[in-house]
Amino acid sequence: MPLSSPNIRKRLLVPLLLTTVARCLQLESTDEGRLPALGFNSWNCFNEFINEEKFLTAAKHLVDLGLKDLGYTYVNIDDGWSDKEAWRDPETKQIVVDYKKFPDGISGLAEKVHAMGLKLGIYSDRGTKTCASYPGSMDHEEIDAKTFSDWGVDYLKYDNCFIPDEEEDKYPWAPEWWNTTHDGNKAHAPEDYDFSTSRSAERYRIMRNALKKQDRIIQFGMCNWGHAHVELWGNRTAQSWRIWGDILPQWTGHTNHIAWGVMPILNHALFHLDQTNFWGHADMDMLEVGNGLTEAEDRSHFALWAILKSPLLIGTPLDSITPAALSVFKNKELLAYNQDPVFGGPARPYKWGINPDWTWNQTHPAEFYSGNSTAGLHVFMLNTLEETVTKTAVFDEVPGLDPSKRYIVHNMWSGEDIGVYEKEFSIKVESHDIAALRFNEAIADREAIKLQQAGKPGKIHTARKTPDEL
Ligand SMILES: *[C@@H]1O[C@H](CO)[C@@H](O)[C@H](O)[C@H]1NC(C)=O
Ligand SMILES: *[C@@H]1O[C@H](CO)[C@@H](O)[C@H](O)[C@H]1NC(C)=O
Ligand SMILES: *[C@@H]1O[C@H](CO)[C@@H](O)[C@H](O)[C@H]1NC(C)=O
Ligand SMILES: *[C@@H]1O[C@H](CO)[C@@H](O)[C@H](O)[C@H]1NC(C)=O
Repeated sequence: MPLSSPNIRKRLLVPLLLTTVARCLQLESTDEGRLPALGFNSWNCFNEFINEEKFLTAAKHLVDLGLKDLGYTYVNIDDGWSDKEAWRDPETKQIVVDYKKFPDGISGLAEKVHAMGLKLGIYSDRGTKTCASYPGSMDHEEIDAKTFSDWGVDYLKYDNCFIPDEEEDKYPWAPEWWNTTHDGNKAHAPEDYDFSTSRSAERYRIMRNALKKQDRIIQFGMCNWGHAHVELWGNRTAQSWRIWGDILPQWTGHTNHIAWGVMPILNHALFHLDQTNFWGHADMDMLEVGNGLTEAEDRSHFALWAILKSPLLIGTPLDSITPAALSVFKNKELLAYNQDPVFGGPARPYKWGINPDWTWNQTHPAEFYSGNSTAGLHVFMLNTLEETVTKTAVFDEVPGLDPSKRYIVHNMWSGEDIGVYEKEFSIKVESHDIAALRFNEAIADREAIKLQQAGKPGKIHTARKTPDEL
């Protein structure tokens, strides 16, 4: 618990001045929110059917499975924690906790979660009700921010349901209807319209400002599904902003234009890469790894979210997780890429693949990506087709690779070097799988010798050699 917590302040009778100094130091030295958040969120596995036990189980498994040590520290409560009947306390106006679900309240859970070295997140909504019809925060932003802070909350996911008519945007914009006017996009905004002046942006700022006044650091995750072109004002308003509808545990397709598979979300994300960097991250939604995708799809889903620097919030029950899904979450090299302290921006497509560059295609988005990390230059090759394909990274095409040089190619899935290559590198990629590779310049033959000594295919490969499967 930080020194500035009201409880400790009372108990230790530390003079206010001292705690204020401590708080300032803490705020200045903290990196909270600089990198994408890592943790767990309840929605994809439990929906609104949550209780304290489920969060303590998730927290215990984050620790016991070694996930906490890899950086997964947020335990985030989604919709369904409050009391639909009691609503708000008539006097304090605080949202009433559902004590059947959380017998010790949210503050009790926060204490237990903090004692495990983890952080607690909570959920609310900018409208009058949350999406599952629990109390929303509209016109109670100050009280709710203070309440969350008093309870010891470290993260707020802030949703976008039940917006009264007078709070509707003048120019409603929903990205799902990018190509048409529809209910979601009733009127097109003038060319020079500034979406940061929309009601959406204004209401999100009200909560952001209320959170900033608290004496806790509370990360702010905006969940307005890409509406009101949030990508244009997201990085000025919050640590993350959702870019599109909800995720579904499926590869393609959607339900009612509200919930979408992995490929359509990826396709949309690729058109909004410029806004993500340190302190502000486009959120592609919580992970569905472990929830019914194939193992190859689980790998691609996780890798793509990681390399585009989305927050990585586990959404599967950790007490029954399969070894395969767990090993995806525990891929140290992809986590290191996502959390790189020096390179804050997302990987970028360097060519589209089976479609022409910059094609909007919800079933077959870009397949070839590159990006830098402190460990080297990376290439990621996704296979969107239904059969195994040999994918080739042509050095001449990859920004940052020099076709006149030789590179040690490293497989980020197996954690092993594959060999030394020049001009190009090919690998077989299963349907819906992704090759995740790192390239480091092979300075001299001693690199090849080192690989040979380690029993690796140390010889220098020239073009058109295809190593075995991933
Ligand atoms: C626009 O996109 C929607 C949603 O994907 C689709 O149903 C519709 O057919 C598209 N309309 C046009 C004119 O392309
Ligand atoms: C924030 O997003 C804007 C575009 O809306 C972009 O120009 C700017 O570079 C982004 N800021 C950072 C720090 O990435
Ligand atoms: C998406 O790409 C696939 C594969 O190239 C193609 O068959 C399909 O027609 C494309 N869809 C659209 C909407 O362009
Ligand atoms: C990686 O860094 C290199 C060298 O600084 C640069 O040329 C290249 O464009 C970068 N690649 C990406 C994808 O950012």
